[in-house]
Amino acid sequence: MIATSVLITGANRGIGLGLVREFLARGYAVFASCRQPHLADELQSLASKYGEKLHVYACDVTSDDSVQAFCQAVSQDVGAIDILVNNAGVLPRGDEKIGEVGVDTLRHTIETNTLGPFRIVQAFLPLVRRGREKKLLHISTKMGSVSLNTSGGAYSYRMSKAALNMLSQNLSIELYSEGVISLVVHPGWAQTDMGGARAAVPLSDSVRGIMSIIEQATLRESGGFFNYTGEALAF
Ligand SMILES: NC(=O)c1ccc[n+]([C@@H]2O[C@H](COP(=O)([O-])OP(=O)(O)OC[C@H]3O[C@@H](n4cnc5c(N)ncnc54)[C@H](OP(=O)(O)O)[C@@H]3O)[C@@H](O)[C@H]2O)c1
Repeated sequence: MIATSVLITGANRGIGLGLVREFLARGYAVFASCRQPHLADELQSLASKYGEKLHVYACDVTSDDSVQAFCQAVSQDVGAIDILVNNAGVLPRGDEKIGEVGVDTLRHTIETNTLGPFRIVQAFLPLVRRGREKKLLHISTKMGSVSLNTSGGAYSYRMSKAALNMLSQNLSIELYSEGVISLVVHPGWAQTDMGGARAAVPLSDSVRGIMSIIEQATLRESGGFFNYTGEALAF
């Protein structure tokens, strides 16, 4: 039987790397990207262990050329992708108050967190359309919810992820008739470099929660926004 294939961006550390480990442990074929594969020691040691089950590619999601090259390389290795996980993301450090938000910071955050997933979806959709599961999962955040925003701040991050949520919703509508599922997940305040030292959720809990959402997702859940625990969140 052919293994289910999953593509993951930002796979060298944090949630991306955690998902790679978990998918491999469950027998999936993993197509993982990161900016600098030659420096991605943990990913490379997994590649040595799992052989043909893990393919590692270079991709900077802020670059059209890089995403195109990534897509061409994957297309030479496999004819279809069953599950696509848009994981790569950035969180600008420090508090952001209006009047002090650097437009370059805002631009880079949107370039990575919004345009990055957009580029990945546009490039890989033909492969996903040929896949058996046809699932697009975008790692967003509660901070991208307009209705749950009661504390303000973090302009760059919130705006970039709110737009990512809209991308997912639009995809779920446009691609519904083709059976393509698109949803967004909040991974919890997870213990990664981004989550920082005070993060509450062990990485393994976040990853297992995300996995269970992916594995259980049907067209009924498409267009949804889910906490890693499985509960639905408001946009
Ligand atoms: N941790 C949390 O508490 C939390 C909460 C809510 C949402 N999230 C979301 O979860 C996702 C993963 O976050 P994380 O906690 O695992 O963060 P992380 O440990 O900081 O990892 C971020 C990943 O994104 C990659 N990345 C950044 N810019 C990139 C680019 N231009 N092109 C390709 N890859 C790029 C990084 O690669 P490099 O190593 O090359 O920098 C790294 O692999 C993000 O989308 C984040 O917004 C996290």
